[in-house]
Amino acid sequence: MNVLVTGGAGYIGSHTVLSLLENDCNVIVFDNLFNSNLESIKRVENLTGKSVHFIQGDIRDKSQLKSLFSQNNIDTVIHFAALKAVGESGQIPLAYYQNNVHGSVCLLEVMAEHNVHNFIFSSSATVYGEENDVPYVETMKLGTPSSPYGATKVMVERIMADTAASNPDFRGVSLRYFNPIGAHESGQIGESPKGIPNNLLPYVAQVMVGKREKLSVFGDDYPTKDGTCERDYLHVMDLAEGHVAAMNWLTRHPAFTGVEAFNLGTGNGVSVFEIVSAFELAVKKAIPYEVSPRRAGDLPAFWANAEKANKQLNWKATRTLQQMMEDTWRWQSANPNGYDKE
Ligand SMILES: NC(=O)c1ccc[n+]([C@@H]2O[C@H](COP(=O)([O-])OP(=O)(O)OC[C@H]3O[C@@H](n4cnc5c(N)ncnc54)[C@H](O)[C@@H]3O)[C@@H](O)[C@H]2O)c1
Repeated sequence: MNVLVTGGAGYIGSHTVLSLLENDCNVIVFDNLFNSNLESIKRVENLTGKSVHFIQGDIRDKSQLKSLFSQNNIDTVIHFAALKAVGESGQIPLAYYQNNVHGSVCLLEVMAEHNVHNFIFSSSATVYGEENDVPYVETMKLGTPSSPYGATKVMVERIMADTAASNPDFRGVSLRYFNPIGAHESGQIGESPKGIPNNLLPYVAQVMVGKREKLSVFGDDYPTKDGTCERDYLHVMDLAEGHVAAMNWLTRHPAFTGVEAFNLGTGNGVSVFEIVSAFELAVKKAIPYEVSPRRAGDLPAFWANAEKANKQLNWKATRTLQQMMEDTWRWQSANPNGYDKE
């Protein structure tokens, strides 16, 4: 199986590349390294003893994509490449539509020209918007996300549906991720955000290595179990294995055409304070934090109904919250600056 992984040098991409190599796939990574470092791929190669064909390039560059597809016999595309900072997407929305939507269109066009039809897309729980009640189920109508970033995910899902309606060979899988955290158990690869982390776990981890002073907990007066926001956190290696499961599902269903969506989550809501306690337990140290006002656009609580992925993909998130914390800490303490030298 030859798999093209766009954005494969990034956080989720690099862990997925590792899982793909462990499942005997040949992997081509196509990444512009805008938000990543080639070191992640080198470490994946060291961990697996297998090599990755890395190409530095941009999904919006169709001529580069065309030569990539002409020179390689690609069976499946796993498409991670995107900008992903929710807050930033409100400040520079056009850059998000350009990169995430236009970039995906370029990729789908070149795939169609080269008769490549298997497409696995990194979608997000954000597509359920504010309209739907928890837990989110795939049968719900897509909602209206509060950010341009979320809107790009809804748009690409729509583009996939229209592509499938017009191309009888298209085989699309949309994986709606909940909140991936953690790192590979080796501590060799993990999340290495550039600048100030946007997500809770990398922020907490940077506080613990002394890179940030204290954690801001945005709101403790939500209608949740302890007043802080609840999310469905899953281990990034469980998520990585979800991609292998989706690819195997496509292989097991050769007659399938169209688009199928799957939630990848644990099915449990975990609060910010629960994360803080679990991390303190893993590190055996108190986390300095302060409660700040709520952040615009944050929903109080959401989590997945993951039964469809459990049943149809034979996939289940199995790693515990404590493992997520311990693996994050192993990665962060061994690599205080992520992949950067300083
Ligand atoms: N991390 C999360 O919490 C989360 C949740 C839901 C969905 N997702 C989605 O999963 C995917 C991967 O997320 P991640 O957390 O690994 O992010 P990441 O930023 O670590 O990885 C994205 C990768 O894509 C590359 N990239 C971006 N634009 C590109 C372009 N135009 N051409 C080529 N490469 C490009 C970046 O350099 C980076 O290596 C994204 O599509 C993201 O929206 C992430």
